[in-house]
Amino acid sequence: MSTMAQPRVNQDIEISRVNDALGAEVVGLDLSVPLDDATFENLREALQTYHLLCFRDQRELSEEAQVAFTERWGELEVFPEADKTKTANTIYNVANVSADGEHLGPNDHRSVYQKVNARWHTDSSYRYIPSFASLMLGIEVLPDEAKGGETEFSNMLLAYDALSDEMKALIEPLHMVHYYEFGRRLFPELPPVSPFEREAVPPTCHPLVRIHPDRGGRRSLYFTTNAGNEVSGMSLEEGQKLHRKLASQASRPEFCYLHRWRPFDLVMWDNRVLLHRAKHYDMARYRRVFRRTTVAGEVPFIGPFSRTADSATSEG
Ligand SMILES: [Fe+2]
Repeated sequence: MSTMAQPRVNQDIEISRVNDALGAEVVGLDLSVPLDDATFENLREALQTYHLLCFRDQRELSEEAQVAFTERWGELEVFPEADKTKTANTIYNVANVSADGEHLGPNDHRSVYQKVNARWHTDSSYRYIPSFASLMLGIEVLPDEAKGGETEFSNMLLAYDALSDEMKALIEPLHMVHYYEFGRRLFPELPPVSPFEREAVPPTCHPLVRIHPDRGGRRSLYFTTNAGNEVSGMSLEEGQKLHRKLASQASRPEFCYLHRWRPFDLVMWDNRVLLHRAKHYDMARYRRVFRRTTVAGEVPFIGPFSRTADSATSEG
C-alpha cells in the first residue's frame, strides 16, 4: 500500500489494552492527518470495546485537526457556559492557566472550577442530552516527579453488574437530579451562575440505570458526584445516603483506571459508560493545560421506564 496516499492508511497501528477494567493505548497513529474509513472503523470498534482510547504523541494536533477528528464521531457539543472557552465555544480550556498563558493562583475561580471536576462525573450530565464522548489533549502536564494530576476513570457497566440484586431492584425506578449550579454549593467562592447559564442548563433528572441499545440492552450505572447528590423519589437523607453508596461503588479499584498523562496524549472516552475525575495536585506549583473537544449526545438516554426500553433490550 502506498504511504503517499491521502487520507493516510495506517498499517502499523497498534491497539492494546492498558487495564482490566477499561482503556486501550493506540500507538502509530497521527491524528493530525485525515484517517481513512477502515482505520476510523477500527477506532470506533475499539472505543466500544475499551471505552477509552489513549493516542500517544499527538504533538502535531492543531486545534482545527482536533475539531476535524472529533467531528468524525458526531456533532460537537457547544459550551455556552462562562469561563470555559478559549477560541471557540466548542473548545473547552481545561486548565489552571488563562487563555493568555498566565498561571492562575489556586484561588482564582478558573482554578477552583477545576476542583469541581475532581469529583466523579460524566461530562455534561447536567444537560437534558448529556455528551457522548470527550477528547482531551494534554498540552501541559505534570512532570514525572509531581504527585497527582492524573485522570481516573471508572467503568459503570462493571459497577452496575457487581451491585447486589437488592441494590439493583432499589435503584431500578430512581432518578438523580443533576444541576449545573451544584458546583457552587461545593465551592461557594465561585461566582454565581449567570441568568443566561441558569436558562441554558436548567436542572434535569436522569435514571440511575442507563440502558444501552448498542450493547443489546446492557445496563450501567449513571450518576455523578459533581452535579448533585439528591435522588428523586426518596427523602433528602435517604437519597444522599444512596448516593454515597454509589460513589463508593464507583471508587472500587477493580473498576478503575488511573491515567498518568504524558505530554500530548490525546485521550478519548465514552461518557455513556464511564465516570472520571481529576486527581488533586499542587495547583500553585504546577501548570496543567488541556484542550477538550466533546461529541454531543444525540438523544436523551434510555432508562428502565423509558418508552423505548423494551425495544432496546430485545435487540440483544
Ligand atoms: Fe470532565
